[in-house]
Formats: sequence, structure tokens, C-alpha cells
Amino acid sequence: MEYQTLPRTDLKVSRICLGCWQMNDNKANASWEAQTYETSKACVDKCLELGINFFDTAEGYAGSEEVLGKCLQGRRQDAVIASKFGFREGPHTPPYTAQQIDEAVTRSLTKLQTTYIDLLQAHFPSFIQNTEEAITELKRQVSLGRIKSFGVCNFGPKNLKTLLDMDVIPVSNQICYNLLWRSVEPEILPICKDKDIAVLAYSPLQQGLLSGQYMTVDDVPLGRRRGKLFSPESCNLGRHGTPGCEKELFEALRSIKDVCAKYNTSMSKASLSWVMQQVNQPIVIVGCRTAEQVEDNYNVMKISDAFVKELTDATEALKDKVGSALDQWASPDRCE
Ligand SMILES: NC(=O)c1ccc[n+]([C@@H]2O[C@H](COP(=O)([O-])OP(=O)(O)OC[C@H]3O[C@@H](n4cnc5c(N)ncnc54)[C@H](OP(=O)(O)O)[C@@H]3O)[C@@H](O)[C@H]2O)c1
Repeated sequence: MEYQTLPRTDLKVSRICLGCWQMNDNKANASWEAQTYETSKACVDKCLELGINFFDTAEGYAGSEEVLGKCLQGRRQDAVIASKFGFREGPHTPPYTAQQIDEAVTRSLTKLQTTYIDLLQAHFPSFIQNTEEAITELKRQVSLGRIKSFGVCNFGPKNLKTLLDMDVIPVSNQICYNLLWRSVEPEILPICKDKDIAVLAYSPLQQGLLSGQYMTVDDVPLGRRRGKLFSPESCNLGRHGTPGCEKELFEALRSIKDVCAKYNTSMSKASLSWVMQQVNQPIVIVGCRTAEQVEDNYNVMKISDAFVKELTDATEALKDKVGSALDQWASPDRCE
């Protein structure tokens, strides 16, 4: 397992992070089917056994912090926990004041059954009411030892510039980045590289699409069609109202499948490697529904430059179609 020290911290994390959105304490939600505590525990156990020490959760993932906290009892010191504030009242949650950030940290610490969170992230820029006030509060949380560091999620170029103009460099920017969603490439990745902000790439398998299991719209579970890759006709649960990119999406998936067959590599492994081998050397946050998937993703390997290029080429048309959209879920785009 490869490790990276998060910038300006002493947090040494595995380059594969377990995404914990799937841990829902056996209650299905808009995106994920019910997952039992036992399954989540098996995933966490497998991670720790293999040396995957990085876990990403959020107060917005119902049940997740509680399950992760329970799974890590007696082993807290072996894990690096990233959590997020935002979504306390669902997607239309108003921005947080300093006091509400403080309350969110208290809630997360309680649910996680811990005295500190290693990396606290703002889930979207829209959850910050006043940037200066929020940064002051996050620094205060660090000084109290309740969080060790802070980062951001879904921050676009303008959002990052606001921080940088205040001489604030977040540890990390957690963003959606995978072969099917490359809108971060032109601007966000270069800023993060230049300022040494770690890129935590979420949905590196585009919610399982890059595993090759779902090759037509009808194959894709409804809850995973809510983003801008799918049209409102394909999914009435979405709230983005944009036309979707199904034609380019499934053409790209077929091309990726062919390229992977040529190199005799599974699509999920190739897709994770492709992200990890981009210039920022992102950490991938991958959700798993079984301990076998954890093990499979752990066995990711380096792929050749030629393989990387063929995968990149296979998704250019989709990249053009997606254009500058950064926020996969909502319109107007919450990442600026
Ligand atoms: N900051 C944010 O706004 C934000 C947004 C989204 C996600 N995230 C974070 O990122 C994490 C990961 O993203 P995600 O869960 O959306 O998507 P993802 O990691 O791209 O996909 C996860 C899904 O892929 C399938 N899978 C995983 N490994 C596999 C393997 N080896 N072979 C075949 N299928 C495999 C599983 O689903 P099936 O087996 O059921 O198909 C799994 O649930 C989340 O858990 C969360 O922590 C953050």
C-alpha cells in the first residue's frame, strides 16, 4: 500500500481511502441500498488488515458516522478519519455559522465515539455562511484538539481563490474525479498542484459504473442515475434539470471496456489506477459494498502510460459533453 502525508499535517494516509457513504446501518437511502452493520464492519476490518487506514464519512451520510465509530472501537489510533459538515437538514440545509460548525463537530465526535477528527471538511462551499468566520472557527477547533486539520470539498476555482486570497491553504479539496467525470482537469487540478492541496478524488468508479457491471441505462440502479450524466427522463429522482449525456457515456464505457480487454485488466482496477496516476497523484475515495471489493481495490496496480492514454482518449467526447460542470448533482452548480 502506498501512503501519502497530507500537506502541512502529520497525517500519513493510504492512497486508497474507504468511502463510508454506503454505511447506512441497514437503511436504504436515495443513492445506496441498505447495507448491514456486519457488512460495513467486514469492510473496515479488511481495510485495517490490508493497511488501508483512511476513512471518509460525513454528517450528511445518514448512519455512516455511527457505524464507522462502532467499527473502529478499540482501534481508533489505527485510523485517519475524515468527516464533513453540511446537509444536517438534507440538500437544502442553509449555510453554517461558526456556532453551527461547532455544533456539527460535537455531533460528529459523539457519533464517531472519538475525541478528535483528523480532517474536517466543508461538504460544499454553499455550507459556509461567512468564509472568514468559518476559517476562524475551524482554526479554533484545531487549537482545541477537536479536529487535527481542515479541508474542503467541491471547491471550484473561484471558491479556492477566495481562500487563497485570505492566505488560507486547505489541506485538501475533495472532488468528483474519474474517467467519466473529468471537469476538474482544466482549472482545479492545476491550482491544487500549484498550492500543494491534496486532491481526494471521490466516486473514482462513478458509483460503480466503471466496474463494467452497468453497460446500459436500465442496468444502472435508479439511485445512481441522479447525476448530470443521466437525463431527467432516465431518473425522476435527480435535481439538476440538465439534458444528460447518456449517448457519450455508454459509448465511453464500451470503449473503456475494449481498452481494458486489450490490456487484460478489470475496468475497476484500470479506472482506479488511471485516477491515481494523474499528475496530482490523487488519493482515491472508493466506496465498497463487500470486503471482497475492498481487497480487489487494494490490489490496484500501476498501468503503462500507453494504457493510461488509451483510457483518456476513450473519454474525450464525454469530457467535451460534460464541459465545465463541476457539481454533478444540482443546478445551479454549487461549485464555482
Ligand atoms: N464530497 C462529496 O460531495 C462526495 C460525493 C460523493 C461521494 N463522496 C465520497 O466518496 C466515496 C466514494 O464515492 P461513491 O461511493 O459515490 O462511488 P464509487 O466509489 O465510485 O463507487 C462505489 C461503488 O462501486 C462498486 N464497487 C466498488 N469496488 C468495486 C469493485 N472492486 N468491483 C466492482 N464494483 C465495485 C460498489 O457498488 P456495487 O457493487 O453496488 O455496484 C460501490 O458501492 C463515498 O463513499 C463518499 O465517502 C463524497
